[in-house]
Amino acid sequence: MKNFKQITPESLNSNPFELIGKDWALLSSGTPENFNTMTISWGAVGIMWNKPVAFTFVRPQRYTMEFVIGNDYVSLCFFDEKYRKALAFCGSNSGRDFDKPKETGLTPAFCDGVPYFEEAKLVLVCKKLYNQFLNAESVVEPTVTDNYAAGDYHKMFVNEIVEFFVKE
Ligand SMILES: Cc1cc2nc3c(=O)[nH]c(=O)nc-3n(C[C@H](O)[C@H](O)[C@H](O)COP(=O)(O)O)c2cc1C
Repeated sequence: MKNFKQITPESLNSNPFELIGKDWALLSSGTPENFNTMTISWGAVGIMWNKPVAFTFVRPQRYTMEFVIGNDYVSLCFFDEKYRKALAFCGSNSGRDFDKPKETGLTPAFCDGVPYFEEAKLVLVCKKLYNQFLNAESVVEPTVTDNYAAGDYHKMFVNEIVEFFVKE
């Protein structure tokens, strides 16, 4: 990947609470011919099954869901603050209605066919390992259901982070 260098998971020196919850990320999947991206701010990074993983949560109505389901790989891209507007656009408009790269000026690129964006400062290339819908029956703390008034429980994806790239 041009302008990026590969790092180990252990040398990542960003705070995941900041990175995911405050800075947000773009979750992308698809092929060079047909891909989509959307903003996420719920998720986690850590270790599962002895692998470095990223947990992502996608509601069923997202167009991105089709791409995540239909492909083995996804990427997570993190950006500097100056791209906040672009991420806000990708998080409030659907790829069904808009060409998000065209509207935001973000430049798609592909790592072995997996879509990411050249403007990112950190790119995690991920291979899906596991997916499962959250459900009402499994809720322990009742206020969690406040997030699902429409019954649109997220699908959880556990993704192995196979490559970490930071901007050089
Ligand atoms: C800050 C922010 C965080 C979001 N986080 C998530 C998330 O974690 N999961 C999710 O399903 N949708 C999340 N969304 C909503 C999607 O990004 C949004 O519905 C988007 O328009 C879906 O695009 P698509 O239809 O092209 O997939 C978030 C939106 C914003 C603005």
